Amino acid sequence: MTLWQGRFGESKQSPELFAFTESLSFDRRLAPDDITCSRAHVLGLERAGLLTHEESGALLAALVQVEGELAEGHFVFKPGDEDVHTAIERRVTELAPEVGARLHTGRSRNDQVATDLRLFTKRSLGQVAKAIIALQDVLLARAREAGDAYLPGYTHLQRAQPVLLAHHLLAHGWALARDVDRIAATRRRLDVSPLGAGALAGSSLPLDPDWVARELGFSARFDNSLDAVADRDFVAEALFDLALAGTHLSRLGEEIVLWSTEEFGFMHLDDAYSTGSSMMPQKKNPDIAELARGKTGRLIGHLTALLATLKGLPLAYNRDLQEDKEPLFDSLDQFERSLEALRGLMATAIFDTQAMARAADAPALAATDLAEWLVERGMPFRKAHELVGAVVRDSMQRRVPLVELVTAHPALGSEATALFEPGVPVSRRTTPGGAGPVPVAAELERFSAVLRTDAERFGMSRPAGPGSHGPRGGTGGRQAPKGPSGPAPSE
Ligand code: ARG
Repeated sequence: MTLWQGRFGESKQSPELFAFTESLSFDRRLAPDDITCSRAHVLGLERAGLLTHEESGALLAALVQVEGELAEGHFVFKPGDEDVHTAIERRVTELAPEVGARLHTGRSRNDQVATDLRLFTKRSLGQVAKAIIALQDVLLARAREAGDAYLPGYTHLQRAQPVLLAHHLLAHGWALARDVDRIAATRRRLDVSPLGAGALAGSSLPLDPDWVARELGFSARFDNSLDAVADRDFVAEALFDLALAGTHLSRLGEEIVLWSTEEFGFMHLDDAYSTGSSMMPQKKNPDIAELARGKTGRLIGHLTALLATLKGLPLAYNRDLQEDKEPLFDSLDQFERSLEALRGLMATAIFDTQAMARAADAPALAATDLAEWLVERGMPFRKAHELVGAVVRDSMQRRVPLVELVTAHPALGSEATALFEPGVPVSRRTTPGGAGPVPVAAELERFSAVLRTDAERFGMSRPAGPGSHGPRGGTGGRQAPKGPSGPAPSE
């Protein structure tokens, strides 16, 4: 039995119609929020004098029972339950036949579903933010333990200038910090109750949308009933936040893939976070990182799917809007799984800081420092750039080590060759926000403070410590010992 049989009398809808239009198969996930929404609505009806205290008590008791049946998994869905709202109202009416028929007073599934989905999205985005913060916390811990280890920084995927490993790890951390901030802003904007908008126009009954909004924990009620039931901006924003945060995970994933190749050799993945090959016995693959990258296509797809659904819709509610849920649910699920897996991977991976240093100590990576060294001695930068460029070209063409040519050069000389000492170029990156040990020490403190503030903002007592990540529950990862060719100390 549908909620709208009256209009159709004895005539029956086709099974194809139900198969095509039902949303119960996926919107049952909204059941806890639907109960919350109904509870507030019942209290609102009592306040408006539309239910007696006894009637409202009977409805609330039925809702408690339905909640229990759903939570324990013995709620029986019936044919004709086209969506979760129908199923719950049908069951409440079975349990409290007299008053069940009053539950939907002054309400439509249009304001109901919009309310449920806002409650759901607000809570889910809060969980997403916490999970992001937990990954950031791992990045911070790994950055701290990286000390003065350095590696080549890249532009165009060509070795450019050395950077501290901590700085590189935190670069991903800062991108995630913006994601957390964006999620907070999305949650603030969606914190508006649509309940009381009815099907599209409000009600002739003395309902109080402000009161139910407060009862539901929203910070405001809708201003326009048409907008309240037609608006899915909050879903689109959530999908964008997930798509962009997913894009950040994808870029991290891509670097894990690169760094764990033999060609780079900067990172070794823990067996617990690696996969093998069914044919090639020697293989150890970074599937987590690849899927974090791969699934982002799907997150972007869900965002574009919803925008395409919304773009042609006249006001107010249209059934097309039912298409908002599956992308949202799937983006949340996929994103959270990527995040968890990457967090474990990052907590347990070993960084080969010797391989990093070997790559970063290539003399050509000191070229910018040579040019800046000349600038310090009064040469215009453009001239210095040209001079050093010519020395580098000469070294490559004649296959003479750069150090020799620099020593022999009248403008440079042996004093300049100190710049080729391991760890010297990175130690010269001293400007605020830069990649050297001095600014990175301050950066670590700033990042840690941002993390603490964000953790508080999302109600975490403190970000989970690094020891709580990964299968070992130990130090949150190990590092290859620094050998003689390892990075120079910062002092
Ligand atoms: N299942 C519907 C949805 O998800 C609920 C609202 C139905 N409203 C309607 N007028 N058919 O959007």
